[in-house]
Amino acid sequence: MNRSGFSEGEVARYWDQNADLWADHVRRGWDYYREHFNSPAFLQFIGDLSGKTVLDAGCGEGYSTRLLARRGARIVGVDVSQRMIELAQQEEQREPLGIRYQVASFSDLSLFDDASFDTVVSFMALMDGPDFQGAAREIFRVLRPPGELIFSITHPCFMTRGYGWVEDENGYATKLTVADYFVDQPYVEHWRFKGGPAPKDARPFAVPVFPRTLSECVNTLIRAGFVLEEIGEPRPSGDACEEHPWLRRWRDHATLFLYVRAVKPVASITSEGQA
Ligand SMILES: C[S@@+](CC[C@H](N)C(=O)[O-])C[C@H]1O[C@@H](n2cnc3c(N)ncnc32)[C@H](O)[C@@H]1O
Repeated sequence: MNRSGFSEGEVARYWDQNADLWADHVRRGWDYYREHFNSPAFLQFIGDLSGKTVLDAGCGEGYSTRLLARRGARIVGVDVSQRMIELAQQEEQREPLGIRYQVASFSDLSLFDDASFDTVVSFMALMDGPDFQGAAREIFRVLRPPGELIFSITHPCFMTRGYGWVEDENGYATKLTVADYFVDQPYVEHWRFKGGPAPKDARPFAVPVFPRTLSECVNTLIRAGFVLEEIGEPRPSGDACEEHPWLRRWRDHATLFLYVRAVKPVASITSEGQA
């Protein structure tokens, strides 16, 4: 489903431009949502990958790839941004963990043979590519049955282009409002990490976004041949909200992330024919 708007080459150029600032801020721990909520929750959802052959699809500068390598996965990271991969490789040289990185789109994994991975993981990247159908098809192809695809994305039902918060006079979020759920036109979002410097001191990231409905995400996976195993909608704990009050709105009103675990069954037939 390659929508008009941005080609993969253009997406790569946006992320090349983001890459140095992104790596610097991530490595300083300024992505508070990652540090205090998303990473721990998603690692728990992923479970134990030690000894498995894993592909990290959309690995960026390798933060999450390194986490999984340290937990015993034999892992390859791919990203469409050459600069992100250079930064990941520099870190691998500085502290070798046995990770191999390649510049590639997760929608064209022709670098890899059929059935070459036990697991494909993707941390907050699949919503950033224009061709989710191609990604589902390619990831399915490179998985060895009964291999799993496990990914996190921003929740398509709540993080719409027109979402917003209503707050009371004390800044407490009383509700989340959602609009434009069905608008599928790609656009560029500008944002910074929560823990980063004040707006005057750091430019925002410019991120092409490809909005998809929940049914589009799920049906694309099913049509590629996957069987859905588990859906996760993480919610911060009460203790986490005490410690980080900015998380509370995601405990009280809606979920920011969607996690999916889908399996390539041993005998698989896709809508496009025998796998
Ligand atoms: C939000 S960042 C997440 C990076 C990384 N997974 C992490 O946890 O830090 C999204 C990444 O997806 C990559 N990306 C976007 N489209 C892609 C595609 N078609 N194939 C591979 N990577 C892609 C971007 O270059 C960027 O590095």
